[in-house]
Amino acid sequence: MSPLWFPYAQMQTMPPPLNIKSAQGVKLKTENGRELIDAISSWWCVIHGYNHPKINAAIDKQLKKFAHIMLGGLTHNAAEKLAEELVRITPKGLDYVFFADSGSVGMEVAMKMAVQYWKNNSSKDGTVKKYRFASLYKGYHGDTTGVMSISDPKEGMHHLFKGYLPWQYFINPPIGFTDLAGCNASLNKMENLFKMHAEEIAAFVCEPLLQGAGGFNFYPPEFLRGIRELCNKYNVLWIADEVATGFGRTGNMFAVEQAAKGKTKIIPDIMVLGKGLTAGYLGLSATLATEKIYNSFLGNAYEKAFMHGPTFMGNALACSAALASIQIFERENYLEKIAKINKILTDELLNFKAKGVKECRVLGACGVIETENESDHNGIQEFAAKRGVWLRPFLKVVYTTPPYIITESELRKVCKTMKDFFIQKETSKTESRFRKTETFRGDGEPILNKKR
Ligand SMILES: Cc1ncc(COP(=O)(O)O)c(C=O)c1O
Repeated sequence: MSPLWFPYAQMQTMPPPLNIKSAQGVKLKTENGRELIDAISSWWCVIHGYNHPKINAAIDKQLKKFAHIMLGGLTHNAAEKLAEELVRITPKGLDYVFFADSGSVGMEVAMKMAVQYWKNNSSKDGTVKKYRFASLYKGYHGDTTGVMSISDPKEGMHHLFKGYLPWQYFINPPIGFTDLAGCNASLNKMENLFKMHAEEIAAFVCEPLLQGAGGFNFYPPEFLRGIRELCNKYNVLWIADEVATGFGRTGNMFAVEQAAKGKTKIIPDIMVLGKGLTAGYLGLSATLATEKIYNSFLGNAYEKAFMHGPTFMGNALACSAALASIQIFERENYLEKIAKINKILTDELLNFKAKGVKECRVLGACGVIETENESDHNGIQEFAAKRGVWLRPFLKVVYTTPPYIITESELRKVCKTMKDFFIQKETSKTESRFRKTETFRGDGEPILNKKR
């Protein structure tokens, strides 16, 4: 028995995981020599594929100087340069960068920043009431305590941690990229919430356009415009969680860019990046803030300073990987590659129909088959692996978020494999031949990869 404890898995029943010996480009190679196209970019982060020579070289070069130094009282060129680069490439107005080591912690940083912002701005009597958050059902922001509390209450399994998690406010998101009626309804709900409770809400938090681990719901850019207006009107900060959407996944470098109307840009007060930031090489997140936020932490009083400082923040190897990744993204025109991926996904998936398939949808470099029931995709992971494709379905979604370097034929193979599973199920009764990779939720309900 291996002592290794795996995520989101019932260790008693988990089938043996595939042991990966090497990885190159979009392909993972198992110890048995089997090659798998990684159709989900190792949880949506390996945007340039594995073992990229330029990122390897950048890390190597940094390693010869040092791997890590603390940012407490010291600094280094890679962190300084990366902060500058992130300010340059993100929407104008996000001018300050705080590094941490994962998306979850980057989001915790954002939440603490919002709470402390209001505290720093509060009147002398120090009565601070803004310490709650509002967010969206179907959202996912990570697995640490604060961000669990703002993730979807059901999928985030709030019942398991009842009494431990703080409670927060939730509203329903629009369902679908063109759901304008839902968009208006959600904004009305949000306005009602703010009318009643804005004085205790520090910030509204959402994943812009694409709610990933909560079930790959897309919603219209108009919703982001509405959020910005309501947050301004009711004095609530807006935190955009671009951990999954940042670096091209929705078709633009950052999803919030799609909400721009003419010359009017829609800028969150705080924006968080992770995952693709280092192209999946090393743990790193960046929490970016506007001048308004940053300035509120200035003053003579030490307590006004931002009270956070993870050991590995701004790790030099991670920053070097991120700098190389941004350079590759821009020099090799990745937005064009993403547009091509989008075309192929649209062509392959959008009109796909089969028994058990509720809907197919595509946004940017992200293609989703939503099933009627969670059990409708039982067995697809093994089915795909046998055909050389690595998938990880969860909830009711089978999806691909491929590395952007994927070739047309590789991507068509991924899509064909996803579709073939449902087609062969229709034409034969082979479903039971495939082992169910069941895990069990705390309440005993059998599930298949409940979480991402
Ligand atoms: C939108 C979003 N925010 C935050 C996180 C948490 O990031 P990490 O897993 O690096 O802690 C994730 C991870 O899937 C995510 O999708």
